[in-house]
Amino acid sequence: MAQTFVMVKPDGVRRGLVGEVIRRLEQKGLRLKAMKLIQVTPELAGKHYEEHRDKPFYGELISFITSGPSVPMVWEGREAVQVARTLMGTTDPVKAQPGTIRGDFALAITENIVHGSDSEESAEREISIYFSPEELV
Ligand code: CMP
Repeated sequence: MAQTFVMVKPDGVRRGLVGEVIRRLEQKGLRLKAMKLIQVTPELAGKHYEEHRDKPFYGELISFITSGPSVPMVWEGREAVQVARTLMGTTDPVKAQPGTIRGDFALAITENIVHGSDSEESAEREISIYFSPEELV
């Protein structure tokens, strides 16, 4: 069964939206496999966002993602990667449809509430950065 990595970012935690994100994913039928509340370190953030290292927004992204607690999670279900991305909406909340998480709760591209893997390969890589195999229930 497909798995995906989803993380409520520091703005989502600060704004009390962890429950809202979980509710939407559960309501759709995805199953929660692992979850924790952590402070993302610069080292962890560097591994997670390694593909963006040369982008102009990289510094802002790392400083934001390490600015407070985040909630990384693993979700499982049919086409989990695509389903989670559809529920989240496009990366830029300005373009995200109403009814999606970013469409309903965000306006800024950096502070966009949630991260979700963009492919099954990314999901596998990101899950292994944040979780050990024993943490998946
Ligand atoms: P995320 O899905 O976590 O993956 C990379 C993040 O970089 C993205 O969400 C955005 O929050 C952030 N970001 C900041 N600026 C940009 C930009 N111009 N284009 C794409 N992503 C950006």
